[in-house]
Amino acid sequence: MSDRITQLRSDFDFELAAATAEAEATLLRDRWVGRKSGLLTAEMKTLGKLSPEERKTVGAELNVLKGYVEAAIEKLLDGFAAKREAEQLAKERIDVTLPGRRIPAGHLHPITLLRHRIEDIFVSMGYEIEDGPEIETNFYNFDSLNIPANHPARSPQDTFYLAGELADKLALRSQTSTMQIHAMQKRQPPLRVAAPGRVFRRDTPDATHNPMFYQVEGLLIDRGITLGDLKGTVEEFVRRLFGPETQTRFRPSYFPFVEPGAEIDYTCFKCGGSGCRVCKGSGWIEMGGSGMVHPNVLRVVGIDPEEFTGFAFGLGLDRLCALMYGLDDIRLLYENDVRFLEQFT
Ligand code: DAH
Repeated sequence: MSDRITQLRSDFDFELAAATAEAEATLLRDRWVGRKSGLLTAEMKTLGKLSPEERKTVGAELNVLKGYVEAAIEKLLDGFAAKREAEQLAKERIDVTLPGRRIPAGHLHPITLLRHRIEDIFVSMGYEIEDGPEIETNFYNFDSLNIPANHPARSPQDTFYLAGELADKLALRSQTSTMQIHAMQKRQPPLRVAAPGRVFRRDTPDATHNPMFYQVEGLLIDRGITLGDLKGTVEEFVRRLFGPETQTRFRPSYFPFVEPGAEIDYTCFKCGGSGCRVCKGSGWIEMGGSGMVHPNVLRVVGIDPEEFTGFAFGLGLDRLCALMYGLDDIRLLYENDVRFLEQFT
């Protein structure tokens, strides 16, 4: 082998050993066998100046060297490519045995959960569920419900009236009893309606009061309805909600839109009536107001009280919800603290 070829080969070996990155290997290829400026390409071009014999041997040696260089660089590049691929695979490796990432599912608010349970009970007893306006005229809020002008419920101290021109005419409804009138205006008796919804009163918030809370109103009008039907319905309702052992009691009370009127208590769902922390030792829990729909209320909507009678009742959801879930402060229900709400699935 000529000295020249030997020198070239050892130069190449030296540079080959120094190429430690893919880009360097590519440069090495261009430098040695590149079509335009490769060292060996240039060397080939000098062959023409040699004598025919020399050209033959040197040419053959050069060809061998060229083959060697090309193979060495190819091997080097292949090595880098394999390494790159292996790295990529390692980076993208998926452990199919890992559990999937759960998308956190939300759930309904505790008051909504309770409202749904109550709605289901009334629907199963043939009631229609109805929704109505939260801003009401004095007619729906008071007059039609036989609430006289001097009744404390009408006082601005207890009711949120709208500001401006409409002051004294429009107010946030202070009870779902407004729905009795809407329900009777919409349909003819016989009818059964349950209307859950928000009501608003100027209460200072504390552990048992909130200026906004939920009620469910019930109304049934038909021929020959008596106080016995009211008691039976309420009893059936609390038994379905709290269990078949639950008892009710009626305490005479006054609500302008019923006659007679009564407050309903039921035996404590926690202790069954023996007295505990939930019922404050009395064995009874207050459910709400009720009574036989006042003839004046029926007349307002054009129903003849001689032909039809009916009963109505209203119960509060927030305190009931607080008792059932053992909350000592109903304000928790409206603070929207996810740590609190998450507990009621
Ligand atoms: N609306 C009354 C209140 O908020 C509750 C009530 C009492 C509703 C008697 C009724 C009823 O339907 O008959 O205090």
